Amino acid sequence: MLLLRLLTFGFGLLLCAVADNISVPNVDITFHKSPKPFEIHVDRHFIEDTRQRVANARAPLFIGARGDGPSTEIFSTVRDFWVNEYNWTATEESINQKLEQFTTIVEPVIDNASYLVPLHFVHHRSHRNDAIPLLFIHGWPGSFLEVSNIIGNLTNPPNASLPAFHVVAPSIPGFGFSPTPQKPGFGPVETSHAFNELMCQLGYSKYVIQGGDFGGVILRYQAHLFPKHVVSALSNFWIIQPEVNDIRMLAEGLATPDEVAYINILETYINQASGYRLIQSTEPLTLAFSITDSPLGNAMWMYALMSKVIDPAIMVWTPEEIITWSMMYYIQGPYGSMRFYKEVLSEGGLAALDFGTLPLVEVPVAISQFPYDISFRMPLEWAKRGGNVLRRTVNTHGGHFAAYEVPGLLLNDIWSWFGDREVSGTKVFRL
Ligand SMILES: *[C@@H]1O[C@H](CO)[C@@H](O)[C@H](O)[C@H]1NC(C)=O
Ligand SMILES: *[C@@H]1O[C@H](CO)[C@@H](O)[C@H](O)[C@H]1NC(C)=O
Ligand SMILES: *[C@@H]1O[C@H](CO)[C@@H](O)[C@H](O)[C@H]1NC(C)=O
Ligand SMILES: *[C@@H]1O[C@H](CO)[C@@H](O)[C@H](O)[C@H]1NC(C)=O
Ligand SMILES: *[C@@H]1O[C@H](CO)[C@@H](O)[C@H](O)[C@H]1NC(C)=O
Repeated sequence: MLLLRLLTFGFGLLLCAVADNISVPNVDITFHKSPKPFEIHVDRHFIEDTRQRVANARAPLFIGARGDGPSTEIFSTVRDFWVNEYNWTATEESINQKLEQFTTIVEPVIDNASYLVPLHFVHHRSHRNDAIPLLFIHGWPGSFLEVSNIIGNLTNPPNASLPAFHVVAPSIPGFGFSPTPQKPGFGPVETSHAFNELMCQLGYSKYVIQGGDFGGVILRYQAHLFPKHVVSALSNFWIIQPEVNDIRMLAEGLATPDEVAYINILETYINQASGYRLIQSTEPLTLAFSITDSPLGNAMWMYALMSKVIDPAIMVWTPEEIITWSMMYYIQGPYGSMRFYKEVLSEGGLAALDFGTLPLVEVPVAISQFPYDISFRMPLEWAKRGGNVLRRTVNTHGGHFAAYEVPGLLLNDIWSWFGDREVSGTKVFRL
C-alpha cells in the first residue's frame, strides 16, 4: 500500500515536472492535466521588440509587377499602422474579454504510445439544456479567432426553435497558444486523437464537428477514427481530388458545369496560388529562419493567401486584422504551424501539388461551399467519394474563412444541418 502510494506519488511528480516545463515562447502560460482558465498576456519586451523590427523593416525594391505578392501599398499601410497605431494591449484585452479561454493537457494513446499534448482552447457553454457539444476547428492561416463571429449565436441562438451548442475551439498544436510538438510526427491523425480526448475530458463523449481548411481535414480523420464520439460533421472545406476519368470527361466535353467550374478553380489555385503550400510541406525550416525573425515578413506571407480567398464584396482585411491574425503565429514562432503541412503530406492528406486521399467518413456529413473558396461547386456525387455526405449547400457569397467573413450564412448552414435531428443524427442529444 505504502509502496503503491510512493509509486503513484513519484509518477505524479514526474508528470508534473514534465507539465510544468511545457511553455509557449513569449506568453505567460501553464498547462495542467485538467482545464484551467487562461488569459493572453504577452511579454511587453517582446511586443516592443516586434514593433521595433517592423519600424526597421527593409522593403523589397518594388518594380510594379502584379501577381508577385502583396502590393507595396499594403506593405506600407500595415507597417505604418503597426508602428504608429497598433495597440497590442487593447487587442489582448478584447480577445480575453470576448473569448473564454483555457489550457489543459490531454493524454491520447496512439498506436500504443501515450502522448502528453498541451492544448489551448476556447470553451463557451450554452445555458440551454438541450445544447449540442460542437468542436470548431480552424486552419492555416487562421486561428481560434475564426470562431469569434459565430460563437455568441451558437451558444445563444436568437430563438428556441434553433439548436444551441456548447462550443469548443482549440488551437492546433503549433498554432496560436498550443505549443509546437516537440518532435516530428504529430500531424492531423495525432491532432484528431488529441481533440477527441479534449472533448471527452470536457465531458462531451458525443459531439459534432465544424471546420474549414485544416479543420476540414482533421474532422475527416476524427470522424473516421471515432465514429462513436463524432455524431456528425459540417465541413466548409471538403476537397476531393478529381480522378483521371474526371479529367478525361472534361477533355471530351462531357463534364457538367459544376465539374468544369470546380476543376478550373482547383487548377488556378494549384498553378497560381499554392507556392506557400509547397514550401511549407517540403522545407518549412528554411522559410522559418526568416519569418520567425521578421513580423512584417510573416504578416505578408500570411496575407498573400488571406487576400485571395475572401469575397471582396463582403470584406477587406483591415491592417489591424492582418496584424492580429499574424500575431497568432508570430508570438510563439511560425515554424510548428508551417510544418503541419509536412505532416499532412506524410499522412496522405496532401500529395505534392494534388490533394491526397483522406479516410472515408461514415457518420452523416453536410458540406457548405462559398464562391471564394477552392471547394466551391464540387458536385455532391464527388463529395460522396469521401464519405457519407448527405447535403451540399452552395452559398452565393463569402470565401475561405466563412465563420469569420459570412457568419450569418455559416450559422444558417449549421442550424439547418444539425437542427435536422433525424438526418444529421443529432437526435442522440435529445434529453
Ligand atoms: C525544461 O526544458 C528546457 C529546454 O527543453 C531544459 O533545458 C530544462 O532543463 C527543462 N527543465 C526542467 C525542470 O525539466
Ligand atoms: C492601449 O490600449 C490600452 C487598453 O485599452 C489603453 O489603456 C492604452 O492607453 C492604449 N495605449 C495607447 C497608446 O493608446
Ligand atoms: C498494440 O499492443 C497490442 C497488445 O500488446 C498489440 O497486439 C498491437 O499489435 C499493438 N499495436 C501497435 C500498432 O503497435
Ligand atoms: C427562428 O429563427 C428561424 C431562423 O431565423 C426562423 O426561420 C424561425 O421562423 C424562427 N422561429 C420562431 C418561432 O421565431
Ligand atoms: C447573431 O447575434 C447578433 C446579436 O449578438 C445579431 O445581431 C445577429 O443578427 C445574429 N446573427 C444571426 C445570423 O442570427
